[in-house]
This record gives sequence, structure tokens and C-alpha cells, in this order.
Amino acid sequence: MARIATERQGDILVILTDSPPVNALGADVRQGLAAALTEAEPDASVRAVVLACKGKTFFAGADIAEFGKPMADPILPVLADKIEATEKPVIAAIHGTALGGGFEIALACHYRVAALSAKLGMPEVKLGICPGAGGTQRLPRIAGTALALEMIAKGEPISAAKAKEAGIVDRLAEGDLVAAAVAFAREVADLRPLPRASSLAAPQDIAPFQAFRERNPRLFTGAEAPVAIVDLLEKTAPLAYAEGAELENKVFVELLLGEQSRALRHAFFAERKAARIDDMAGDTVERSIRRVGMIGAGTMGGGISMNFLSAGIPVTIVEMAQDALDRGVATVRKNYEATAAKGRMSAEQVERAMGQLSPSLSLDDLADCDLIIEAVYESMDIKKELFAKLDRIAKPGAILASNTSFLDINDMAAATNRREDVVGLHFFSPANVMKLLEVVRGTWTADDVLATAMALARKIGKVPVVSGVCHGFIANRMLMPRQDEAVKLLMEGAMPHQIDKVHVDFGMPMGPFQMADLAGLDIGWHRDPARIESLRDALAAEGRWGQKRSAGWYDYDEKRAPTPSPRVGMLISVFRAQNGAAQRAITAQEIIEGTLYPVVNEGARILEEGMAQRASDIDVVWIYGFGWPAWRGGPMFWADTVGLSNIVASLERNGFEVSQLLRAKAAAGESFN
Ligand code: 3HC
Repeated sequence: MARIATERQGDILVILTDSPPVNALGADVRQGLAAALTEAEPDASVRAVVLACKGKTFFAGADIAEFGKPMADPILPVLADKIEATEKPVIAAIHGTALGGGFEIALACHYRVAALSAKLGMPEVKLGICPGAGGTQRLPRIAGTALALEMIAKGEPISAAKAKEAGIVDRLAEGDLVAAAVAFAREVADLRPLPRASSLAAPQDIAPFQAFRERNPRLFTGAEAPVAIVDLLEKTAPLAYAEGAELENKVFVELLLGEQSRALRHAFFAERKAARIDDMAGDTVERSIRRVGMIGAGTMGGGISMNFLSAGIPVTIVEMAQDALDRGVATVRKNYEATAAKGRMSAEQVERAMGQLSPSLSLDDLADCDLIIEAVYESMDIKKELFAKLDRIAKPGAILASNTSFLDINDMAAATNRREDVVGLHFFSPANVMKLLEVVRGTWTADDVLATAMALARKIGKVPVVSGVCHGFIANRMLMPRQDEAVKLLMEGAMPHQIDKVHVDFGMPMGPFQMADLAGLDIGWHRDPARIESLRDALAAEGRWGQKRSAGWYDYDEKRAPTPSPRVGMLISVFRAQNGAAQRAITAQEIIEGTLYPVVNEGARILEEGMAQRASDIDVVWIYGFGWPAWRGGPMFWADTVGLSNIVASLERNGFEVSQLLRAKAAAGESFN
């Protein structure tokens, strides 16, 4: 429950909001703020007002949980106008993250004082909406159209220092923020006229909207909000404030009521829900992880290590041969240096991260690690042998983890005398970039091990999802039917580039064949060129292993740009002839139904078997693991929008065995989310 306290510091009134966890601007907060301002207005002994928040952050935005429900008065734009219209200076004291509606409240204040560590931004676009409390009109007037366009259309926050530079923040504060804001309030208490953003002239730097669209093509493929936002800013740039605000409100409401915003809000809450483990005691105490051991310095091992190094956790990395170890360490350095070259890291940060990395050729050096992750070759025999060795080397209480993407964690655990300490940590490639982490809960995995893995994942900036033990876990298991069905469609007349294009048009970053080329067609291949049982075998046997060989389902040029391959076309013809299936023109709708409905079916089976805790976890896996467009909410949310009975009917028509759960839900008219 929100608490809005007022506190007098001499002639300055501090209105202090305390509404955990993030001071979202729900009805009670809005009402409390309005009441406190109404009280302060006529009080002659109050010369200025400071708006501040308790807890970890200034207002982090409107209360997203209220969206789609009737809004109690005062609504946010009305509250913002009330603040701005106050006849005494109102100063925002910003710490943490002033986001969305929170940032808009700050912009409606006459002045802004921010803690050095604060961040300010308008992430509404990520929820499929535009700012709705005057932000699209006040920000360009204060900071110029170019910066406003960047911030509102992309949704990335900026630092307090950058905000100061742009004229958004009037003063940066070190130390006690409220005291600094009160001191600032005294300085400006008598200054008139009050600086009101809405009274500023329309911005003169009419930014190159078209250039922005051209510079950021990915932003505009499929998602409605970025398109609407840029159009709105362009249209309102020459207008008076009131007219612009009216248009903003219209666009805000339209977007809010749309399917995409509903999907994106689902994704927002799904991500947070995924971190919760339903059957775990609330008082489970996490183990402390001070040093991580990494076995394998290949692409995966190096990438995984970087996550910990970047978070300031030392890593001991072990390889079998010196040259492989050197290569691995050099790659980590190269990746960091590339980040530094882009200005996203300082040279000092690179050295600090590298300084935390201890290369070794001996597993014995892992004895002091609190968590050991193996990323060695995907062979159960090798892994079992390794776990048995780790059992002898690791200190008591150390967590032993495998980065396997398919194999049974329980078998590895059984090779130790501490099977409760074993867990799967399945990172996605490139491991230092992709945000998904599948945390695989084995039969014996202890609660505190699981809790530690989930907390650690968040610490290193990952989005963790718990999976049970099954072949391919949630992510790769669901990918398999998509790939199989895509290949079947080739037999009926589709071509790889046609199928991939349908997936890209759907909003995926790439299609199934592009993805197979990226992952490598040799992965999981039996390696016998004489044994050709599938089209994939035929490609692999010819050395068409994907991008790394410049040839796979596509041909690649030296810049890794793909073109449809005549050779693959020929092999497809050979297989079609053997297969005997009738050839026909395949439509985009058939490709969607043929390749994505089986994914939903597999997701339903995963739920049925209890391998995922909830349907929304599966959505999170696809959004963060495979780049499923968040504005479609993930495959299970999308299935709800398609209609489960439509999906069942299509699966039946195409001869699939339909998941019991999917069938039952469809029959009952239910949805997954
Ligand atoms: N509304 C409702 N609940 C919110 C919320 C919001 N704006 N922001 C966060 N929460 C909830 C989360 O759901 C979570 O709840 P849970 O504990 O029950 O799962 C809890 O607050 C903590 O959130 P996080 O786990 O995300 O905490 P972090 O410390 O990792 O991150 C944050 C904090 C950076 C503030 C992050 O929560 C965030 O980005 N929030 C969303 C900010 C946002 O999008 N604001 C714009 C809202 S739209 C708007 O303002 C419209 C306006 O223009 C009219």
C-alpha cells in the first residue's frame, strides 16, 4: 500500500512517496500526490515543493497492472498538468530509474535534481504504447527532437549525466539527494516565471524523422508502437502543446487497446514470473558464489565466462591443451576489446574483467570454486567421467553445473556422490549476449542450488527459466518439430528461402534454415558420409555445415550474406523424387501452420509433463532464446490469439498427434495465459 508522507524542511515541503517495489504511479499514489499538492498550494509558508521517493527508485512509471482496466482519477496526464500548473516551484528529486510516467512526472516538474547514478527514460515503446502523460510533447521541448526521438522510439534510458548535458536535469547530486533538492529549491524559490515545459516554444530542430526510420529498419518491422511514435512526433512537432498532447492521448489509447500492447505487457510480467519457483519454500537461503570454475574455453565456455567477469565474479577457466586455452582467453579479450571500441566499456574495465580470469590446464585448480560449469563436448560418457572427477575435486557445497543443451542432467548427477548439488545451466549462443538461461532442475537438485542459480542468473543480467529434464529441455525440444516440419514442407514444394522469409516476416530474426546454418549442420550429425538418410545428412556429407563452411542450406559470400544455393535446390529435387510427395505451391499461411502449430503442440506437451512451470515461461524462452517477436507475446500467448481450437483443427487435419492438454483446453474454450 502506498504511503505519501509530507515533511516540512523549513519553507520547503517534501512530498515523499513510498510505494514498493518500484513506486509505480497507481491510483493511490496519484491520488496521494494530488492531495498533497492541493494542500501545499494555498499554504503561504511553503515556498517550494520537492517530489521524492523512498526505496530503490523514483517513480518507475504508470502501474502497468492497471492498464486495460478503468482508470481512477486523477489520470496521469491530469496529475502531470496539475504539477506543472502549481504556482510554486516543484522540484523532482530523482534516484534509481525515472521511467515512463515517472519520467513524465519529472518533466512536468519545474526543475529536476538527479542522483549521479540515476537513469531516465521512456520505455513505453517496449510495452507497445507511447508515453501518455505529455512526455512526447514535453521531452522534445526540453531536450530537442533528436534526443527525444531516440529515447521515445527506442525506449532505452539515459544516464543522469547525459540528461544534465541535454538540459533535462538541472543539477546532479552526490550524497543526500533530498537535501540537495531542498537546497536547490531554496535557490529557485522566488524565481519567476516558473519554467514550464509545455510553455516552451515548439522545438526548432525538426529532426530528420525519415532519416531516423532509415537508420533503424529493425525497429519498424512488425512492431506498431515505434511506427506510431515516430509518426506522432513528426506530426506534432510543429503544433501547439495542447494540440500535440491531445494527439498523444489518442495514439496512447489506440495502442493500449491493441493486441501488440497486450502481448508486450504479457511478456513483461511473464519475464518476472519466470523467476519464481512455485514449489520452493520462501525462506530458502542461497549459497554464496564468489568464484566460478569454467571447463572448456571454446566459444561457449569463453562466452559464459564473460558473463561472470563482467559482473565482477572471478573465473578459473580450464582447458586440456595450452594452445586451446590461449586461444580461448584471447577470444575473451578480443570480444571485450570490440565492446570497448564501440564505446560501451572503458579500457580500464576491460583490464579489470581480464584480471579476474585465471587460465589453467588442471581441473585441480577448481577446488576453490563455488560453482563449476562444464561446457565440454556433448557426449554423456565424457560428461559422466568429468562429473565423477569434479566430485573428487570440488569443495563441499560447490554447485556442479552442465551447459548441455540436450543431455540428461540426472545421469551426470548420478556419477557423483552429491547429486543434489548438480544443476543444468543452459546458455544460448552467443553466451555473452543472449539473455535466456535455462536452469535445468534435476530430480535431485536441491532447492538452495536452484535458488542460487536463479539469483545468480539475474545478477549476470540473464532471464532465467526453470526447465525439467527432457531431451532438449524447453527451448531445443520445441525447436525440433519446427525444423522437421520445415524440411517436410521442402518435400511438398517449398524452398528454404521461402520458409525463412515467412518466419522473418512473422517477426523472427531468422528462419529455421538460416538458424540451422548458424548453429552448424554438423551438430548432432552421425558423421558417416556414406549414411545418407535425410536431406540434412546429404548436406552434411558434402561438407555443407553452414555459415562456418560458407555453405549449408544457403551459399554464403565472404561477408556471410546468404543466397539460395543451386546445389541445395538440386539435392531437394533428388529427395523430392525419392519421396514421391505431390508438389504444390505452398502459401505463407501453410508455412505458419505447418511449422509453428507443431511448436505450440510441443509446448503444450511440455506443460502437460510438468517440464515447464507455466505457459508464460515457454513464451519467455522463445522471446529471449530465439528472438520470437515480443509483440506477439511468445508462442503460447500467440496460440491463444490464434484460437486453440483452430490450432487443434489444423494439427488434426495434418495428421499430428495432438497434446491432451491442448485438446482439452481447446474443447473447454480455455487459453494458456
Ligand atoms: N507497474 C507495475 N509493476 C511494476 C512496474 C510498473 N511500471 N515496474 C515494475 N513492476 C513490478 C514488477 O512486475 C515486479 O513485480 P514482482 O516482484 O511481483 O515480480 C517488481 O515491480 C520489481 O520489478 P523488477 O523485477 O523488474 O525489478 P528490477 O529492480 O529488476 O527493475 C525496473 C526495476 C527497472 C523499474 C523495472 O521493473 C522496469 O523496467 N519496470 C517497467 C518500467 C516501465 O516500463 N515504465 C513505463 C510504464 S508505462 C507508462 O508509464 C505509461 C505512461 O506513459 C502513461
